[in-house]
Amino acid sequence: MGLRALVWNGDHLSVLDQTRLPLEERWIRCDTPEDVAVAIEGMRVRGAPAIGVAAAFGAALAARRAVEHGRDVRRAVQDAVARLARTRPTAVNLFWALGRMERAVQGAGDGWEAAHRLEEEAAAMMEEDERVNRAIGRNGAALIPSGARILTHCNTGSLATAAYGTALGVIRAAREQGKAVQVWVDETRPFLQGARLTAYELLKDGVEATIVTDSTAGALMAKGLVDAVIVGADRVAANGDVANKIGTYGLAVLAQYHRIPFYVAAPTSTFDRSLAEGRAIPIEERDPDEVLRMAGVRVAPEGARALHWAFDVTPHHLIGALITERGIIRPPLPEAIRRVMPDGGGDAVR
Ligand code: MRU
Repeated sequence: MGLRALVWNGDHLSVLDQTRLPLEERWIRCDTPEDVAVAIEGMRVRGAPAIGVAAAFGAALAARRAVEHGRDVRRAVQDAVARLARTRPTAVNLFWALGRMERAVQGAGDGWEAAHRLEEEAAAMMEEDERVNRAIGRNGAALIPSGARILTHCNTGSLATAAYGTALGVIRAAREQGKAVQVWVDETRPFLQGARLTAYELLKDGVEATIVTDSTAGALMAKGLVDAVIVGADRVAANGDVANKIGTYGLAVLAQYHRIPFYVAAPTSTFDRSLAEGRAIPIEERDPDEVLRMAGVRVAPEGARALHWAFDVTPHHLIGALITERGIIRPPLPEAIRRVMPDGGGDAVR
C-alpha cells in the first residue's frame, strides 16, 4: 500500500499527522467525531478529498459510539454532521461527503445495522476517491508532453486525497506512461504543504522536483522554465471559477501573461453547481498567528497584524482546462461544465 493520509481500523480512524511531516510519521487515533473535527481544523488531515473522507468516517464513528452507549443513532449522526460541517468552509467535498452520510443514515435501519451501513458508505467513498483520482491522472496525462517542466502549488497528492492525488495524480500518471517530468514545487506559505508534503511525495516516487519560494514563479516563467501549471481545487463554481490554495490566482495571471497552459485537476465531487460563480464561494480565513509565526516561532514584530486567507478564486477565463474523472473540460467552461455534468456533478447537501 502506498502513502495514505487515513486508515480505517474497524472501530477507529487513524490520521497521519500532516503538521509533523516530513520530520515525523506520527499517527493520531480518532475515536469520536470530535477527534476527527479537531484533526481537520488543526490541518492534521487536509486537502479537499481527504477532508471529505475523514468527515465521512467521523459521521460513522458517531453512529458506532451511539450504539455502544445506547444513544439514538440518527440524532448522534445529525449532531456529528453539524459539528464536522463547521470545521473548514471552502472545500465542498466536506459537505458532499456529509450529505452522502446523511442520506445513508436515513436509508438505514437502526442500531448496529445503521452503524455498519455508515462505515460501509465511508469506506466506499475512500475507495471511489482512489479510483476517481486514477481516472483524473489518466485523462490529464494526455496534456503533459514528455520532458515537461510543471509548476504545482500546495499538496494535491496521496496526502490530500484517499490515495494517488489529483494534480499530483496527473504528474504520477504521466510518469507511469514513461514520460519524463520535472516539477517546480511552490513551498506554499504559511503551512508549507509544497515544501513539506509535495516534495516528500515526489521524492518517495523518485520524481525530479525542486522547491521554490512562492514568489519565484514569475521569474521562472519569464525565463521560459515552466511548460505547464497544474493545481487542484477546493471548490469549482457552476461557471468554472475555482477556489484553491491562496496564491493560485496569482499563478493563473502569471501563466496567462506568459502564455503557459494553466490546468486544474479535480473530481466531480469538488464541483458546486449551486453557486453560479466563484465570488459566492466561502473563503476560509485562518488565525493570523499562523502567518506571524514560522514553525511556532514568532517572526513578525509584536503588535503587527496579519491577514490569512487560506484560499483565493481563479476566474474561469484564466483556466486552460479542468481535468476530471469524466474527461477534460475545455473552455468555454460554463457551457462545457453543463454538458459534461448534466446531473450536476457533485451533490453536496448543506
Ligand atoms: O489548506 P489545505 O492544505 O487543505 O488546501 C489544500 C488545497 O488547496 C488543495 O489544492 C485542494 O484541496 C485540492 S487537494 C486534491
